[in-house]
Formats: sequence, C-alpha cells, structure tokens
Amino acid sequence: MQIVTDIATLFANVEAWRKAGDVIALVPTMGALHRGHLTLVEEAKKRGTRVVVSIFVNPTQFGPNEDLAAYPRQEEEDAAKLRAAGVDLLWLPSVATMYPVGFATTISVAGVTTGFCGASRPGHFDGVSTVVAKLFNQVRPDCALFGEKDYQQLAVIRRMARDLNIAVDVLGVPTVREADGLALSSRNAYLTATERAEAVALPQALGAAKAGLEAGEPVAAVLERAVQGLLTAGFSAVDYFALADAVTLDVLDRLDRPARLLAAARIGKARLIDNIAVAPQI
Ligand code: PAF
Repeated sequence: MQIVTDIATLFANVEAWRKAGDVIALVPTMGALHRGHLTLVEEAKKRGTRVVVSIFVNPTQFGPNEDLAAYPRQEEEDAAKLRAAGVDLLWLPSVATMYPVGFATTISVAGVTTGFCGASRPGHFDGVSTVVAKLFNQVRPDCALFGEKDYQQLAVIRRMARDLNIAVDVLGVPTVREADGLALSSRNAYLTATERAEAVALPQALGAAKAGLEAGEPVAAVLERAVQGLLTAGFSAVDYFALADAVTLDVLDRLDRPARLLAAARIGKARLIDNIAVAPQI
C-alpha cells in the first residue's frame, strides 16, 4: 500500500490506474478506523479494481465547541489495518494541502441539510460537502462508499454529486453494529463503561419505534415514547428523534412512503447518532 501525502503523486497514481483501465473505488474517512470502515473497504474491493482510502480529520466540519482537538488520531494503526485489508493507496493530506492559504470556496447544499444534524451543527454539512467534493476531484473515483450510519451525510453527498454532475457513484453501506446493536462509531471511544451499557437504548428505541410505526401506531406518539425512553435510559438530551422521507429527508407526520427514523442523543461526552429504515404499510 502506498501512502501519499502530496497531490502531484496522488494524481500520477490515479491517472496511471485510469489509463490502465482500472475502476477506482474511494472510501473517505477521518481515521480512527473500526470494523465499520473496514466493511466499507471490503465493499470497495468488490466494486473497484483499485481501492483508495483517505484519512483527513477535516477541520471545517467541526463547530467551534466540537471535538476537533480531541478527535482520535492513530495514523500508524490505521495504516496497518488498511494495508492488511488490501488497500492500494492511502491518501493522507495535511490541512495545508487541503486548505492552502487563500482557500475561499465553500459548497453548500440546501434542503436536505436544514434539519437534524444540520440544525444542531451549523456549517457542519458545508464542511463535509466541500471536503468530499475536493476528494472527488482529487481522486476522481468511479465510486465512493459511505456508511449509512451517517444517513444525512449520505443524502447530502448524493445530492451534491447529482447537482454538480460529479460522475461518481455514491454508494451507501449498511451500518455495522456491536453484538448488542450499538452502531460502531469512533465517538463510542468517549463512553465510560456505564454509558456504553446505557447507549444500547438508542438502537433499541429505533427498533421499537420502527415496529410501532409499521404496526400502524400514530407517528407523534411513537416518537414521544422513544424520546422519553432514551432520557429514562441515561441519555442527557435528545437532539432529535424523527421520521423523514428516505431520500429528501423531509419530516413526515404520517408513514406514507419509504422513510427513515433518524436520531441523535447525548450521553456523557458523546453525541451518538443512528437511524433505521421504516417501510410504509400498504
Ligand atoms: O464520515 C466521515 O468520516 C466524514 O464526514 C467524511 C465523509 C470523511 C468527510 O470528512
């Protein structure tokens, strides 16, 4: 596996692969790699003949009071995992490479970014869409893989790629979970043992809400019960627990189309997010 830190070498590599007829699959990450990321890599190997993984802790997607400084950084460990997984190239740019002096362009996707994490993390999705657009231009992959765990992020990136005619297949990969159902996340590292045990209430609340909705219970009552359940289970706050259109993320008060339950809740130092598909009843 090649580890590349400058754009000229990255371009030279991907151009040579493209000329040779390779199909390039990109997995963008912020490092602190866990089984969820490695599942994205496995999927990428099925989709492409060359797999590029990027690790870049993107400062522009963190708010002023968020965990940029504390975000786990473990590049050597990450590189070893990616090498073992058969990745061809690790793209490891510095902040100065990604945002050189004078950098002044932001990509801002409307609509799908307004609610949920967009409401409680102003500027977050501008940072995500700008850095992902840059990664797409740098690597020019045939496809790029993202976890469904960050469901709103996936919807934003799909919208951006479509709106800007970026010729990349944006692929969502199902969330990887611990045995008890907690979604894998680099931020789970912030949980104490007690909080970790309590955190399972989040996937459980989503599962119970899905069952209630698909059994025809009224949306408002199901959502209210879920929020109360999380607060009782040890979460200190619920940023949102909502039903949304699976594609546009418009908030739904009736289950009349393919939908997604989306949740974000705070426990200890962590803000956990998760989501689950909900099928309309015919
Ligand atoms: O999901 C992430 O890790 C990041 O938001 C991404 C897509 C790599 C952009 O920085």
